[in-house]
Amino acid sequence: MIVIPLPMFLFALFLSLLTNTGQMVSAKGKDNVREACSVTRFQSLCVHSLSPFSNTAGRSPSKWARAGVSVSIGEVKNVKSYLAELKRHGHMKGRNKVAVSDCVESFSYALDELHRSLGVLRRLSKTTFSTQMGDLNTWISAALTDEETCLEGFEDNNEKHVKVLQNRVQNVSYITSNALALVNKLATTGLGSVNDP
Ligand SMILES: *[C@@H]1O[C@H](CO)[C@@H](O)[C@H](O)[C@H]1NC(C)=O
Repeated sequence: MIVIPLPMFLFALFLSLLTNTGQMVSAKGKDNVREACSVTRFQSLCVHSLSPFSNTAGRSPSKWARAGVSVSIGEVKNVKSYLAELKRHGHMKGRNKVAVSDCVESFSYALDELHRSLGVLRRLSKTTFSTQMGDLNTWISAALTDEETCLEGFEDNNEKHVKVLQNRVQNVSYITSNALALVNKLATTGLGSVNDP
């Protein structure tokens, strides 16, 4: 028979209690993020990128929409600085060099449209709700189009830098598509639902 000293046993018990409590909280958060993401097209990417908002967004469609647009803005900024780096190091030649410059422009538009969208989401009101939902749909769709336009200008898709860039741009377009779905969910739910805004 193995005898475990009492202090060690208590310590182990304490640890397991700690972990279980942690799991209970995060299990609820996981349910929230999964439910919110169920309306999106790229669900695992949605769950991965939005789980940090699980506790604060809870079950509020307006908060999930805001989270979706915020994450999209963050990723657009990341890709923008990556584009600037590519330009600075002169990795791209010929037509791809032109494509990078076009992407910088497209991403500036996308960033602007997403910022405007976030501005709307920050001051939602019942009286202007349907106009606001229309604006959001227009601007997020435009951002998505701008991101997709960026993908079109490249040639030699097997070149290393082109490949990496295309993956990142595609990723950000999926994230933006998810944000649009979250906004559409808000549009159909409306304000004033449980815990919303
Ligand atoms: C895609 O975006 C997510 C969320 O921002 C990020 O964690 C991930 O690293 C990105 N993947 C690629 C290939 O850029």
